[in-house]
Amino acid sequence: MNGSTRMNPLSKCSIKNLDLQGKPLFLRVDFNVPLEGGCLVDDARIKAVLPTIELAVAKKARVVLASHLGRPDGRWQKEFSLLPVAHYLSQLSGREVAFSEDCIGDKVEEDIRRLEPGKVLLLENLRFHEGEIRNDPEFSQRLCRWAKAYVNDSFGSIHRAHSSIVGVPKTLGKGAVGLLVEKELKNLSRVLTNPEKPVVLILGGAKISDKIDVIKNLFTLADSILIGGGMASTFLKSQGLSVGESILEKDKLDVANNLISGAESMETSLKLPVDHVVAQSCEPGVFSRIVGSSIPKGWMALDIGPKTLAAFKKEILQAKTVIWNGPVGVFEIDDFAYGTMEVARTVAASKAFSVVGGGDSAAAVKKAGVENKITHLSTGGGAALEFLARKELPGLEILSWS
Ligand code: 3PG
Repeated sequence: MNGSTRMNPLSKCSIKNLDLQGKPLFLRVDFNVPLEGGCLVDDARIKAVLPTIELAVAKKARVVLASHLGRPDGRWQKEFSLLPVAHYLSQLSGREVAFSEDCIGDKVEEDIRRLEPGKVLLLENLRFHEGEIRNDPEFSQRLCRWAKAYVNDSFGSIHRAHSSIVGVPKTLGKGAVGLLVEKELKNLSRVLTNPEKPVVLILGGAKISDKIDVIKNLFTLADSILIGGGMASTFLKSQGLSVGESILEKDKLDVANNLISGAESMETSLKLPVDHVVAQSCEPGVFSRIVGSSIPKGWMALDIGPKTLAAFKKEILQAKTVIWNGPVGVFEIDDFAYGTMEVARTVAASKAFSVVGGGDSAAAVKKAGVENKITHLSTGGGAALEFLARKELPGLEILSWS
């Protein structure tokens, strides 16, 4: 990626500048939302894109929404249908939202021809066709042959080089970003470009593999990096400590060791847990206890301990900028949620400019009831991480012509 386009993300053409009057608009959104038994469990991604849908409606576009849901392997599967999302969006927006049972084909094109200006239609899951993920040129062509404008407001998927993200704007030779993508880029850029110091990066979750590039990139920016969650075990083991039965990425021990040395050479403080809440199995109600940095055989770390939490809180409360990705314990189980809940409450209570990314961290912030106190709760997990790692985001790159 060309650094100037990445570091000036707001230079992308915006939906605000488009004349959409009467035009069929291909509006890529990210409705990859958790559903249980056909009911929506979390509507944050849907709410986040409403302002763009409303703007498109006000501009009298014929608004055609396209999204993926889950990973259905290129074939129709009821559990991955977007129909429940169409119903939900209709209730939420107070507008009729029509639904097409596919995303390509004659019937879909007929539905779109009939769609009046200012009306909204949701296409069925793009990933029911394998051409979507393969960014197949013929599929891209079929997907958008009716479209007169393209807007990407799908921040959560902007790191995917798929048909609806890259192939469609390439085929149409034009495209713009929506209000959500603009907001995400503005807030995430702020932590990369001259953030107010001290900058504290909190990383958790099971794996370090996803976060290596973010850590490397933020070495120079972060004053301190706090590591918790399953990934902490790999760091601890790389320093010769025993981790018992804790989750471990054996093939990443060298990487962890190098990251620790890298932090030392950059004079970035990298803090690992000095104590843990451990149990013999990961289930509710199980007996648990607190141990120091070494975890005995037969036990696994499931939350950070009180000394670690106190040290993390101290860092967070001194920060002017906080970036958080990944829970520091198994917060889904109440017995092991305390550390993550306290981290969430401390980030919320701090005066820092705070950015939280990733589905699990966002869920933790909501469980702690502090989502309104976080400066920016990103709708992107992988996408936010890749942006912070300064990786190429194909969905943005393709819109760099403006
Ligand atoms: C996400 O939830 O991270 C995005 O919707 C992308 O989904 P994917 O990881 O299945 O491509």
